[in-house]
Amino acid sequence: MDLAEQAVVVTGAGSGMGKATACRLARRNALVAALDIAAKPVLALAQELGGLGIECDVGSESSVRTAIQRVVAEFGPPRVLVNCAGIAAAQRISGRKGPHDLGLFQKVIRTNLVGTFNMMRLVAEEMKQLDPVGESGARGVMINTASVAAYEGQIGQAAYSASKGGVVALTLPAARELAQFGIRVVTVAPGLIGTPMLHAMPEEVQASLASQVPFPRRLGSADEFAALVEHIIDNEMLNGEVIRLDGAIRLQPE
Ligand SMILES: NC(=O)c1ccc[n+]([C@@H]2O[C@H](COP(=O)([O-])OP(=O)(O)OC[C@H]3O[C@@H](n4cnc5c(N)ncnc54)[C@H](O)[C@@H]3O)[C@@H](O)[C@H]2O)c1
Repeated sequence: MDLAEQAVVVTGAGSGMGKATACRLARRNALVAALDIAAKPVLALAQELGGLGIECDVGSESSVRTAIQRVVAEFGPPRVLVNCAGIAAAQRISGRKGPHDLGLFQKVIRTNLVGTFNMMRLVAEEMKQLDPVGESGARGVMINTASVAAYEGQIGQAAYSASKGGVVALTLPAARELAQFGIRVVTVAPGLIGTPMLHAMPEEVQASLASQVPFPRRLGSADEFAALVEHIIDNEMLNGEVIRLDGAIRLQPE
């Protein structure tokens, strides 16, 4: 897909994989709208890339509606949506300090699952108005971020795994439904990627996790994720699928 002068929305663009994706797509001359709940990093990124930086909470209906209205007004309807906004949490269902905090469970689901869906439903309203392009009549593509924890969540990851499992599960029905508009839906399930989310863990935990990757025996980079996103945009046979990006890691129970 020729991205030049096309609007692209990236959530969680203030950091990590979202930021790397925004930078990569800007190099394709896309009009990048960088959304994040943290305003400062996306405003700085937008200045650097010449795009739009918008403070937006993906879990909030009004916040996402306002952000998308702004994107459409300044850049036109988006051809690409990349959902990277997400939070991690680690807590046992029944731990030493008592039961899992219900509010924390709800917060993780709200951000990672409801936030992804909220973006998809409101962007779809705009994307389907675009003119179809190419022989297949494509209008656009939505790329979500799950995690290998959707499949083999570790102890303490019940909330996170449930949220990412939801993102995996909605990929096929969303692709089936949006096919009538020429909109594809693909999800990436990263393994261990060296971003601020992962670097927040103690160094010995990071090293131990990296040593569990069969090959290459290291953390993935945010740009390797962004490169896959770029390929998904360009390869229109990829649809309704979840792609692991994980060096063959299978997470151990703990
Ligand atoms: N780093 C990894 O190893 C890894 C592995 C698998 C999946 N993931 C997933 O990849 C995605 C990107 O993670 P990352 O590693 O780049 O993390 P990160 O913490 O570097 O970036 C996540 C960004 O999302 C933003 N965000 C959080 N809540 C938000 C909200 N409600 N609305 C808008 N923005 C919000 C944060 O402010 C942050 O800028 C996440 O969904 C994460 O769960 C990460």
